[in-house]
Amino acid sequence: MSVTVRVPAKVNVQLAVGGLRPDGFHDLANVFLAVAIHDEVTVTPSDSLRITVSGPNAHQVPVDGSNLVAKAARLLAERFGTDPRVHLHIAKDIPVAGGMAGGSADCAAALVACEALWGTGATREDLHTLAAELGSDVPFPLLGGAALGRGRGELLEPLETGGTFHWVFAMAQGGLSTPAVYRECDRLREERGLGSSTADIPAPQPSPELLEALRLGDPAALGARIAASNDLQEAALSLRPALAETLRTGTEAGALAALVSGSGPTCAFLAKDPESANDVAEALLASNTCRSVRVTHGPVGGAAVVGG
Ligand code: C5P
Repeated sequence: MSVTVRVPAKVNVQLAVGGLRPDGFHDLANVFLAVAIHDEVTVTPSDSLRITVSGPNAHQVPVDGSNLVAKAARLLAERFGTDPRVHLHIAKDIPVAGGMAGGSADCAAALVACEALWGTGATREDLHTLAAELGSDVPFPLLGGAALGRGRGELLEPLETGGTFHWVFAMAQGGLSTPAVYRECDRLREERGLGSSTADIPAPQPSPELLEALRLGDPAALGARIAASNDLQEAALSLRPALAETLRTGTEAGALAALVSGSGPTCAFLAKDPESANDVAEALLASNTCRSVRVTHGPVGGAAVVGG
């Protein structure tokens, strides 16, 4: 017997970063949108806890105990008194280390799949609590849709969305380390004499206009609010200056907005409609400023069992 869970990637339509907290995290106002690029995690009982990965970028994914899916299985088993020995297989389509929370998505999927396999009786709320322990971005893929993340991103409030938004993602060569991008953000703030702690930087706030554009399903209004909505973008560009060219290419091809996705290096482009998304994708592919391109849409639902 096995259980398969399908889980979406995300884009941050706003990522307001506050000061560095004493616990090493930053306070955030993080507006998540789940998009239709999915991984699938399949769990099967086994005589040891082991991980396999398939898909074009499988070789970039660790298959030892450091993989978040192993940590998820262990944590759920420990809290609910079960045997953690399962084979976890990840069918990977979400870019690795791309700022689309692929590792967090797999972790969320592993929680849902192990719960379905073991029948521990954990509620959705229990899973959310475990998810927040495993990582700041792990709770959102349990929920999907759109949500505002406060705290270090784990305190979620679902958001209304009035329609489907069309997106193009441009994958870069290689990844970027999330902690390194946050450190660069702090360094740039220090360099400007702003300081980088919670005492120096105002508490991050969601943009009311951006939330309203999401609620109305209005891509033009959302596009107008996305410019400069990602406080990690400057840091990602500082570590990877070539991304500026990718962003420019998509904008010139008619994207309503161009931004670095989360901590990068994937770049995200909001398009008016599916046709415009295809135009942006073609221009990006022709430009040689990225490794590969995906056209997709959001919001989509969160982690869900699809087979077993
Ligand atoms: O929560 P997670 O383990 O995914 O975070 C990875 C790293 O990203 C943290 O160790 C920290 O360096 C950085 N981070 C942060 N503030 C957040 C979320 C993550 O500084 N709100």
